[in-house]
Amino acid sequence: MKLLIKNGTLVLPEGERKADLLIENGKIVSVADKIDEKCRTLDVSGKYVLPGLIDIHVHLREPGFEGKEDIESGSKAAVKGGFTQICCMPNTNPVCDNAVVAKYILARASEVGLCKVHPIGAITKGEKGETLSDIGKMKSVGVVALSDDGRSVMNSYIMRLAMEYANDFDLKCLCHCEDANLADGGVVNEGYNSTVAGLKGIPRAAEDIMIAREISLSESLGIPVHICHVSTWSGVEIIRSAKARGVKVTAETCPHYFTLTDDIITTYDTFTKVNPPVREQRDVDEIIRGLQDGTIDCIVTDHAPHSLKDKQVEYNSAAFGISGIETSLALGYTYLVKTGKLSISELVALMSGRPAAILGLEGGELKVGASADVTVVDFDKSYVIDGSEFVSKGKNTPFNGYKVNGVVEYTIVDGEIKYSN
Ligand code: DOR
Repeated sequence: MKLLIKNGTLVLPEGERKADLLIENGKIVSVADKIDEKCRTLDVSGKYVLPGLIDIHVHLREPGFEGKEDIESGSKAAVKGGFTQICCMPNTNPVCDNAVVAKYILARASEVGLCKVHPIGAITKGEKGETLSDIGKMKSVGVVALSDDGRSVMNSYIMRLAMEYANDFDLKCLCHCEDANLADGGVVNEGYNSTVAGLKGIPRAAEDIMIAREISLSESLGIPVHICHVSTWSGVEIIRSAKARGVKVTAETCPHYFTLTDDIITTYDTFTKVNPPVREQRDVDEIIRGLQDGTIDCIVTDHAPHSLKDKQVEYNSAAFGISGIETSLALGYTYLVKTGKLSISELVALMSGRPAAILGLEGGELKVGASADVTVVDFDKSYVIDGSEFVSKGKNTPFNGYKVNGVVEYTIVDGEIKYSN
């Protein structure tokens, strides 16, 4: 089975190049100025050909919360967003804290057969922060990392044990950083707007304290750690100075943290409610600087689909989370590339090569011999975001009405077209 992608602009490890790319039996077999082959051919003139995007932080909700999303709907949303590989968080019901649930997710994903789905196991049983989960058994069936995403492991001793065990099994802890006592049931960023809106705030310190703790544990143990969804300017500074000392810390952020400020919460639109919360202009600016200087290693979506009944309630009771996997690439392009802050190659590295490297996943580069995971995108095409059109069950986006550039034309996984526009 051959597939020829002709006349595109390829984003290769060495930079952009106008060239053709030939796929055979699921692998990239040739990249050259001009390839002529009698086989299925996609003429992608004017479009970009990227290594398949990789999102190491999504919520697929299955098992247990299939009303919000399931592995099939989440995979469909992922390939529409240009993603060929996704890693799903364990806050399902039952929690993915054991090999049985992890195996179920892998089996279901392979039945669905769209993108590659890698389960992330919980750090602690039930994500309760008390007892370590079955780390070794989960690793043996294929979990790619550990996280209690949605909350921090508040007990520092347990977190230290977790890092040590995880490291013994060559797994990284992906840390949701939030001091639960200090966050104290807050729902938005603590600041001027939370006061004006009369909504309880979550201070930056709630996030920063835990970022600093994870870095301190990582530094003292010499064990790598990954910081989830950084939202604060001060968190970026803490990570930057740790990296300068040689600490093995990596970090991610999400599109909503480099595009939105908490000015939007005064609309009381519950689609803006997310944890950590969107913050202020200083935070947005520093996160962009972090993306530019490598302090923040990758962009993830934290795709957090919720049903409308979980969102169409008063702000304090609404679920936290943004359905983000279908808009991430366009938001990245529109807010980072079109504005001249990053090049296309830099954006692609943040959404493909770097996340792959953080978790040791295969992929993330277009090169001969690699699996043919490829995303074709038209950055010239613009559209207006409308959550009601998402294929995800989660229609919860704060970006309704935003005009963005970047339409995914094809998503190809192991040489097979899994999505075409
Ligand atoms: O807003 C969020 N939603 N943040 C998280 O960390 C968890 C996520 C969810 O599971 O809905």
